Amino acid sequence: MNDTEPDISESLIKISEAENSFAGDIASAQSVSEIENIRVRYLGKKGLLTEFTGLINRANQENKKTLGQQINKLKQSIQAQLTVKTKNLEEEARIRNEKTIDVALPGRRHRLGTLHPLTLTSRKVCSIFNAMGFLTVDGPEIETDYYNFEALNIPSDHPTRDDQDSFFIKSGILLRTQTSPVQIRVMKKTRPPFAIIAPGRVYRRDTSDASHSPIFHQIEGLYVAEHVTFCDLKGILHNFCIQMFGKDRRVRFRPDFFPFTEPSCEISISCARGGGKGCATCGGDGWLEILGAGMVNPAVLKNVNLDPEIYSGLAFGMGIERIAMLTYDIHDIRLFFENNYQFLGQFPSYFTS
Ligand code: PHE
Repeated sequence: MNDTEPDISESLIKISEAENSFAGDIASAQSVSEIENIRVRYLGKKGLLTEFTGLINRANQENKKTLGQQINKLKQSIQAQLTVKTKNLEEEARIRNEKTIDVALPGRRHRLGTLHPLTLTSRKVCSIFNAMGFLTVDGPEIETDYYNFEALNIPSDHPTRDDQDSFFIKSGILLRTQTSPVQIRVMKKTRPPFAIIAPGRVYRRDTSDASHSPIFHQIEGLYVAEHVTFCDLKGILHNFCIQMFGKDRRVRFRPDFFPFTEPSCEISISCARGGGKGCATCGGDGWLEILGAGMVNPAVLKNVNLDPEIYSGLAFGMGIERIAMLTYDIHDIRLFFENNYQFLGQFPSYFTS
């Protein structure tokens, strides 16, 4: 063995030491510039691996090959690791920058919600009746056949039931088809005199179209005391119509039929469009029906143990959607339930009480 020729195993140890020290250096590098320093230290012109080429030159033919292969392998591995680490550090820096808050940017605005047109309408109706002394009460949406029909003088074979086909949960239990069962609940619990208003959701097995929805809303009214007369009914409901729709409207009372009121009537207001001469909204006759009403049927008073010789009452019911459609000139009931922000955002909350 030549004097100047280095011991092959010593050379291999040096290469392996370089590999270990590189692994430590790259693991602790924190920035792209540190990576660059490491690159220069190992692969640069005066770098460790360039020094190793000297080892090859001095080795014999056989060892040259082994050393060359080892050094090349290390060089390639160092290059690959430098590339990967650089990429990782750049990505980390990018994420860090993204998280930085730019305090100079304007904030994101929160959209202010508005009240639903049905809520606005219901509140307006209730506030008119509240001012006349009616108390707002609530009733369940799941009702028994007794409260929804039977106690309201609608026995199981009554033809009125055909118009109020319902969603039955099980026999005798259904989603209420009207707010009138609240009348029974109140009359059973409270002794007259009392006056209540009951807004709420009702259900009927109707197919949805521009004027029908299987879910809609009603407001029920009931006033029971001694000596309540049809004059009270006329005065209260006339007053309501004028406050709700304006002084210019005319109010019309016509006979109607409901099993739980006797006598019964239907109340319409004059149509504001077409100068009262008739248009598409009113179907051409110049009147818009908005309410059903009547004097509480003595049979109903008896059902709740109130003596019809002593007490009398007036009751009325109206559809909130119908009133809202007339107030805002809306022609499709489905708009209320589609939750389209462009539609809902148009109603300024001026009835907020
Ligand atoms: N409940 C009736 C309906 O849904 C309306 C009504 C209520 C009529 C109270 C008279 C008295 O059609």
